Amino acid sequence: MEITFRLNGEIVRTREPATRTLLDYLREGRGLCGTKEGCNEGDCGACTVMVEDESGKKPLNACILFLPQLHGKSVTTVEGLSKGDTLHPVQSAMIEEHGSQCGFCTPGFIMSMATAHARGETSHEDILAGNLCRCTGYAPILRAAKKAESAPVPEGFEHIPFAAPAVVQRPETVDELAALYALRPTATLIAGATDVGLWVTKQMRDLDEVIFLNGVSDLKGITETDDAFEIKAMTPIADLIALFKPYAPSLSEMFRRFASTQVRAAATLGGNIANGSPIGDSPPPLIAAGATVTLRKGEDQRTIPLEAFFIAYGKQDRQPSEFVESITVPKAGLANLAVYKLSKRFDQDISAVCGAFNIAVEDGIVRSAVIAFGGMAGTPARARTVEAALIGQPWNEATIAAALPVFAEDYTPMSDMRASAGYRLTAAQNMLRRLYAERSGLATSVLSIKEGV
Ligand SMILES: Cc1cc2nc3c(=O)[nH]c(=O)nc-3n(C[C@H](O)[C@H](O)[C@H](O)COP(=O)(O)OP(=O)(O)OC[C@H]3O[C@@H](n4cnc5c(N)ncnc54)[C@H](O)[C@@H]3O)c2cc1C
Ligand code: FES
Ligand code: FES
Repeated sequence: MEITFRLNGEIVRTREPATRTLLDYLREGRGLCGTKEGCNEGDCGACTVMVEDESGKKPLNACILFLPQLHGKSVTTVEGLSKGDTLHPVQSAMIEEHGSQCGFCTPGFIMSMATAHARGETSHEDILAGNLCRCTGYAPILRAAKKAESAPVPEGFEHIPFAAPAVVQRPETVDELAALYALRPTATLIAGATDVGLWVTKQMRDLDEVIFLNGVSDLKGITETDDAFEIKAMTPIADLIALFKPYAPSLSEMFRRFASTQVRAAATLGGNIANGSPIGDSPPPLIAAGATVTLRKGEDQRTIPLEAFFIAYGKQDRQPSEFVESITVPKAGLANLAVYKLSKRFDQDISAVCGAFNIAVEDGIVRSAVIAFGGMAGTPARARTVEAALIGQPWNEATIAAALPVFAEDYTPMSDMRASAGYRLTAAQNMLRRLYAERSGLATSVLSIKEGV
């Protein structure tokens, strides 16, 4: 594929295999070895670069970024940060605060910090959750990030758009995508590549034919109506944090804990649904909220409840040449929504169990209950027997106690490296107890503690 992008100010035109990563291109193709390879799977942030497009600057992991995803964009690596002998303010601050020892992680930290600096963002603990350091310790690094806040953004970081020629075979509209996918039903769709990237870097898979979705302009964006949000498949997870905050704070918080800043900037909601993972974070809360998914195949479009999309482990209700176009979330489904993500690490970790509760109580009686879990079965799945045990009952401790044993009728969870079956079942039960304790004022929610309410 021939692609055009800007690299440290220079326009680059290059013909590359479709699944060549930016990290390999930089290090092996260009000798730009400041960008490090640590995990090669999006976890450590050593390969972080700054990428800019019409939506602004973002930090991305170069190890799981395929070159065609960069067409028309600007990339800055650590080599492009200082101007002559003048260091970028975050570089100077890292030296002054002793933020580096072995230095292997340092370019990645610097690029995350410089991107946040240019965006005016100061929540450094969140911003750096996707950058691992094993020898300095985080305190000096966080001090450096704080110190650089007040420095002006150096010249040369303003966005300069440039015209990139169209790429043959890259769809730019949903109609073009539908037509191309109809001709190539076995092609792998690539959205943010935060799953697909690992098939290449870790499983060493050769992807025969691929279709990149990043050029499809009408597959991005969110439309708000009086009743609902329609979220196009290519919307990045990062955009969902602010979207849901006023409507369902715990859902917003769950998306804040989804992976890391770098992964959230690349990963899409469509990819998180389409991959059918039983431990994907977005399906349980969106099922509990009553979301629907719209699928497109050729000229035909159909909309089904999101819950019905997940048929069995590894099997989704998706025909050859059919793709996820959008997800619609009714606002009414967000009003009572509570989401709990349980993972081994607080940040940058996939859930062992993710529970979502949409329970309406009126006059002390449970009027409706939709409960969905991830990590408890081969697919994201409803707890229908638990729901039945709650509906029509008084919202009190006795009802909750009676509902707890019923979880075992809904779920037979697996034991794996994240959690044992017994742990998962107990954790799911405890999430219901936690919801009851929070709603009854018997416990303070984690969100309230964080926000000082
Ligand atoms: C370090 C790291 C941490 C992670 N942490 C989390 C986490 O906390 N929670 C979580 O849920 N996930 C996590 N993930 C997994 C991943 O980020 C998500 O599943 C993400 O949403 C995938 O989106 P994507 O756009 O990158 O998909 P891609 O990797 O591009 O695609 C994923 C799959 O979906 C298909 N696909 C993509 N878009 C469409 C479409 N529109 N229609 C049909 N098929 C499509 C692809 O063909 C592929 O099969 C993590 C991944 C990494 C690397
Ligand atoms: S090398 Fe670890 S995130 Fe890329
Ligand atoms: S300075 Fe050594 S890993 Fe961070």
